[in-house]
Amino acid sequence: MSGMDLRFDGQVAMVTGGASGIGAAIATRLAALGARVALADRNAESMATALTETGAEMITEGDVSDAADAARMVAECEQKIGEPRLLVNAAGIADQFHIVRDSDPDGWQHVLDVNLRGTFLMCRAAAPAMLAAGQGAVVNVSSIVAATGFPGRSAYGVSKAGVDHLTKALACEWGPAGVRVNAIAPAYTRTPMVQELIDRKTLDFGQIARRTPLQRLALPDEMARAAAFLLSDWASYITGTVLPVDGGWQAYGAAGDVDRFRIGPEAEPTRA
Ligand SMILES: NC(=O)c1ccc[n+]([C@@H]2O[C@H](COP(=O)([O-])OP(=O)(O)OC[C@H]3O[C@@H](n4cnc5c(N)ncnc54)[C@H](O)[C@@H]3O)[C@@H](O)[C@H]2O)c1
Repeated sequence: MSGMDLRFDGQVAMVTGGASGIGAAIATRLAALGARVALADRNAESMATALTETGAEMITEGDVSDAADAARMVAECEQKIGEPRLLVNAAGIADQFHIVRDSDPDGWQHVLDVNLRGTFLMCRAAAPAMLAAGQGAVVNVSSIVAATGFPGRSAYGVSKAGVDHLTKALACEWGPAGVRVNAIAPAYTRTPMVQELIDRKTLDFGQIARRTPLQRLALPDEMARAAAFLLSDWASYITGTVLPVDGGWQAYGAAGDVDRFRIGPEAEPTRA
């Protein structure tokens, strides 16, 4: 283990979904901690902006759910800045928000293709170099939706539950070679994906804040710091874990709002 600073000096990191939201925040944090970051995303336009904003070194455009694109994006990173030793799978899409009875099978499958197959393909594409080097760390981005049933979100929940299992399976397969694989499970985070759902009134952020012990939505950098920890040597004995980064969402099991059990200062709780 190299020193006790949480740093990634000179290490090559590939971040899918790096053009926006949680992926962009993770790319920014890793670059600030010394990593040489490659953004991999299907949205070239946002990536061009994100390249400057995140401090990443390169971009590569492609669809993570396409096997040829996944392999090409990793190869481009290898050619331009080196073999990635750190991989973050943050590319993802939300549901169509239909109950199963009313779901279109192709739309349902598309969510699985991007969120689960995409994570599988990117891990598979980056694996040979990491395994050959006997060194590497992967963080997959799951969700609180993987852990319990959410009406209207079966495709997304199934895709993220699949990501959780894939994370554990890969940790077992790659641990002996010195490669760690973990996931973070964010709750609602203020990103373009969530803002769109709030704008469409699919999500009520006041209701979410009231059901969250920490009483607010998360900020993208709060996901980035958790991901950076899991990628770093500080997490050198952690593999196969899914870390909830959710303000206590998964811990809360009571009926009604968290506020009902409020103790401590009389002041109004802070809400995002
Ligand atoms: N925002 C939240 O509240 C929240 C909560 C839990 C989990 N997540 C997960 O975090 C990840 C990032 O979400 P976000 O909120 O930052 O979303 P976002 O929409 O802001 O960013 C997602 C990025 O992924 C890219 N992308 C989508 N499909 C792709 C594909 N097929 N190939 C390559 N790139 C693709 C998009 O172009 C975009 O840049 C997703 O996996 C999402 O499921 C988000």
